[in-house]
Amino acid sequence: MLFVWDVPSQDRSVGRDAQTGRWATIPQWQQSGPMEKPDKQNSMNFDASSLRETLSHFPTGVVVAATCGDGGAPVGLTISSFNSVSLEPPLILWSLALTAPSLSAFRAHDSFSINILSSEQQALCMQFAKPSEDKFSGVDWRPGHGGAPVIQNALAVLECQVYRRYEGGDHEIYVGEVIQIDSTDRKPLVFHRGQFVELADSAA
Ligand SMILES: Cc1cc2nc3c(=O)[nH]c(=O)nc-3n(C[C@H](O)[C@H](O)[C@H](O)COP(=O)(O)O)c2cc1C
Repeated sequence: MLFVWDVPSQDRSVGRDAQTGRWATIPQWQQSGPMEKPDKQNSMNFDASSLRETLSHFPTGVVVAATCGDGGAPVGLTISSFNSVSLEPPLILWSLALTAPSLSAFRAHDSFSINILSSEQQALCMQFAKPSEDKFSGVDWRPGHGGAPVIQNALAVLECQVYRRYEGGDHEIYVGEVIQIDSTDRKPLVFHRGQFVELADSAA
């Protein structure tokens, strides 16, 4: 339901339904008033390392995001910031550090692959988590959508077209439209509190 307000400063807990014109109470999550920048001094009681530690409590899968570099050479890095966004259209997102050497390749190329790693691909995760001229050395891959490299034997793959790039503080946020998907039944590689953990088998 779409709500309208007559006056910008109006109380946003009630509004007129844009279609019927009737007044209604609006759930808090739909009260889209102007965003106020928090007062930095009053709102932040932590530093970057404690924020990183707090975020590490959220377990994630591990992904290699990959694209084409100069002359079509494969470029990729380990990420855990991957997540789903939308089913229609099919969108996913992840974020890339502005300091990452691979940033220029992701900015220059409009397709990328998301290779979700399996529990057996811990070494591959580490190979793609440090800067190197040829991270794909010894890696079995094929060119996918737009030429972006797809890692063979990944647990699951999403081949994407860049849909939007957004500024995100010290990262750049990539939203990709999913063009091609593939998945297997392997177990995922899981990262939690700075280390790899095993998923327990579900009870029969
Ligand atoms: C588990 C894990 C998750 C990571 N997640 C991200 C991420 O989401 N975004 C990012 O920019 N770097 C992330 N990194 C760090 C990059 O993998 C690392 O900085 C890498 O060297 C970047 O590749 P590049 O040097 O070729 O640009 C992660 C590293 C690990 C081990």
